[in-house]
Amino acid sequence: MKATTPSPSGSVLIEGLRKSYDRAVKKGSAYAIDGVSFEIPQGSLVTLLGPSGCGKTTTLRCVAGLEQATEGRITMGGKVVFDSAGGRIVRTEDRPIAMVPQSYGIWPHMTVLDNAAFPLRHGRHRMPRRDARTRTLEVLEQVGLAGMADRWATQLSGGQQQRLALARALLGDPEVLLLDEPLSNLDAKLRVRLRHELREFQQRFGITALFVTHDQTEALTMSDTVVVMNSGVVEQIGTPEEVYDFPRTAFVADFIGSANLVPVELASQDTAGDVLASTAVGTLHCGRRTAGSTGTQGEGGFVFVRPENVEVRRLEATDDPGDCDFTAVVESAEFLGDRLEVVVGAAEVRITAFARSGSGVRPGDRVGVRLDPASTSYLAS
Ligand SMILES: Nc1ncnc2c1ncn2[C@@H]1O[C@H](COP(=O)(O)OP(=O)(O)OP(=O)(O)O)[C@@H](O)[C@H]1O
Ligand SMILES: [Mg+2]
Repeated sequence: MKATTPSPSGSVLIEGLRKSYDRAVKKGSAYAIDGVSFEIPQGSLVTLLGPSGCGKTTTLRCVAGLEQATEGRITMGGKVVFDSAGGRIVRTEDRPIAMVPQSYGIWPHMTVLDNAAFPLRHGRHRMPRRDARTRTLEVLEQVGLAGMADRWATQLSGGQQQRLALARALLGDPEVLLLDEPLSNLDAKLRVRLRHELREFQQRFGITALFVTHDQTEALTMSDTVVVMNSGVVEQIGTPEEVYDFPRTAFVADFIGSANLVPVELASQDTAGDVLASTAVGTLHCGRRTAGSTGTQGEGGFVFVRPENVEVRRLEATDDPGDCDFTAVVESAEFLGDRLEVVVGAAEVRITAFARSGSGVRPGDRVGVRLDPASTSYLAS
């Protein structure tokens, strides 16, 4: 990400953003975000994903101009809207953005139509009242609220309010749409439906969007790019597939999906370049390369494998474990309908695997465990 890259209209470039909420920034001050950089290409949806308190909202509010970053630079559509070095600060209302806050920000004393039409009556895209009404009704139709224009906003359900907030944001004709956990207050079913609808709107209108969530499924299903944050810093940036299949750090592996992380004592490389990791359960073969992973040998780190890439096989007392990596004892086997989630233990190591529902694996069983080397990687610490 070069500072000189010309940004096409609608793209956003965030460089070296730091924010301290302390009024006087002293040496050793804690930063809510500390050196956050990423890019949102025009027309794409980038998600900030991370645990509570990692700095997602702070980043979003800095992009919106609702918070002033302590350091860094923000460029929108080729125009610098914030630069701590150059002392440049463009006000929120002059940035080409619309924001859907977590609480939706719906005005209860207005009708649905008046809420949605607000940007056309007061914003940068002000238009005559009659035209505003026509245009607003069009967009309300697109979000499935056509028949509700004259209701009070308080008479809408949570999901309908979310769509109203989205309609209002779209009517502001933003180059960049900022969404802070917009689906988190909805029930599970509605959340899934609106997740698809939101993505569909974003793609249909070709909107550049920054979406904040702590829900990994939301991030994986909706995004072009996921920015995984932890304690104010970016841990990894990648497509949903990249961050799921090729996490670069134990934090990313653990935060997204379920992960087995086996502590490594010593890691070395074989002639083919695969990592052989010696662990408490023996040497494990890590055949998957994680691009950008720091180092492939040394002490410490973790073997990382997802439960779906672990095979467990029941062994009778006299059975030979054959090509298994190690033997273990089943601690729990939970029926999930289509499969069993099995937790096995061996030498202080606990591994989760999925087994077929009919495989008959039970707590107390002795099992052979095999990690698929092609889906197993070494994460250096
Ligand atoms: N106005 C504020 N004043 C002081 N500290 C703040 C303020 N807002 C946020 N913080 C702190 O900054 C850090 C990042 O907060 P932020 O709200 O950005 O996290 P988040 O990732 O959005 O979390 P969540 O998922 O809980 O919404 C936290 O440690 C938080 O306590
Ligand atoms: Mg937040």
